[in-house]
Amino acid sequence: MDSFLIRGGTRLKGKIEISGSKNSALPIMAACLLGEGKTTLKGVPRLSDIDSMSKLIGELGCHVSRHEPPANIAEAGEPSLPALNGPLDIEVTDENMCEARYDIVKTMRASICVLGPLLAKRGKAIVSIPGGCAIGDRPVDLHVRGLQKLGAEFRTENGNIVGEVRGRLKGCRMYLGGAQGPTVLGTINVLCAAALAEGETVLVGAACEPEVVDCAELLIKMGAKIKGYGTPEIRIEGVEKLHGAEHRIIPDRIECGTFMIAAAMTNGELELKNCNLDHLIAVVDRLEEVGVKIERQNGTIFVSSNRRLNTVEMTTQPYPGFPTDLQAQLMGLLCLADGMSVITERIFPDRFLHVGELNRMGGRVRKEGPTAIIQGVKELQGASVMASDLRASAALVLAGLVAKGTTRIDRVYHIDRGYEKIEQKLVAVGASIERVKEK
Ligand code: EPZ
Repeated sequence: MDSFLIRGGTRLKGKIEISGSKNSALPIMAACLLGEGKTTLKGVPRLSDIDSMSKLIGELGCHVSRHEPPANIAEAGEPSLPALNGPLDIEVTDENMCEARYDIVKTMRASICVLGPLLAKRGKAIVSIPGGCAIGDRPVDLHVRGLQKLGAEFRTENGNIVGEVRGRLKGCRMYLGGAQGPTVLGTINVLCAAALAEGETVLVGAACEPEVVDCAELLIKMGAKIKGYGTPEIRIEGVEKLHGAEHRIIPDRIECGTFMIAAAMTNGELELKNCNLDHLIAVVDRLEEVGVKIERQNGTIFVSSNRRLNTVEMTTQPYPGFPTDLQAQLMGLLCLADGMSVITERIFPDRFLHVGELNRMGGRVRKEGPTAIIQGVKELQGASVMASDLRASAALVLAGLVAKGTTRIDRVYHIDRGYEKIEQKLVAVGASIERVKEK
């Protein structure tokens, strides 16, 4: 378990290239189980969660291979990350296996994304039930309910969800929302299954996140007939077969938002390349209210701040609202604002493990149910803190960058799950971060 040692107080200045989206790549890799022939995915980041998904679909009979970058790439000047990360080829070579084992599912909840594709293509799926996790209770009832409506039958057996389909799935009109609103991976699971179902499926209350749109666009390239994706009502006309395709994963909007907040916290000036600011409209709105300057030129964003930060009141919401995956990082920023801010977490009401750690660094954050009240302080101080989940850990890295003295963050494997080369990217723009390997 590696740690980060961060010496705070440097102003970030320079260029960072945003990687392909983890949360888009993971379900898209699972969707490749639906196709016949090879699918080539460009822009897949190198992350431990991607390795876990490669292993999982590998066990399910896919041949997964990464093109290595050309040997002479260094001669071409400063190579971009997508060029260094060769495309990923995925081809189904054996359709006999149907089980996602607990060993993999427990490390990565996105494993649930194989449920819909396996049922639609192989008629059977055994997926270990994902347990709770650091961000709270994370049920999969909506995934199961949606697939049941398409005709799959489910039972639980020894900690597994066992699903079976007699014949072919059948399209229908269904409502997919839950108590906390739409489900992103649930929408993708049912969308993938409906792509091969008989007849028309209408998903009402579907998630509108860019990751859903990205998956729908891949499925269309594979031969699926889908309309209305990106809206709460998706219409899918099932087809009999899907084929391989070529697709580029969208930029990671959460990584981009994290670096925007890093620039704001360190009074810095960052040029973020390979971004899609349209995916971050609510984030830009809130950061501008805080006083951050954001400009866009094609796919590049320029972010700067003079560190007089205003307070805000903010609630996390499904897309296009402010994403829960940037709540912890925004809280880190608001710890330094001029007065009191309020954050309410509507998607995962218990996603507040970073509160205690930010307070260890001198923050003044009080939690009341799903709400955090943040009293801005003049400065944060370095301390030893613990990474608890991916985004909470990112918030601690940002806090460490601006804190007085040295911050030690233990268990950074959480960060490695979702931020590609984070310390190299930050060091390149002036941060002082050292990875300490556990002996
Ligand atoms: C995705 O998780 C992301 N994960 C999460 O990112 C992200 O926080 C979340 O969407 C919300 O945007 C991946 O894409 C791999 P949901 P997902 O189903 O799809 C409830 C990160 O840090 N719900 O949209 O699993 C659920 O409890 C991760 O990168 C049910 O009640 O989230 C929550 O309150 C963490 N029943 C709400 O819906 C269900 O069957 C939205 O969750 C499913 C979900």
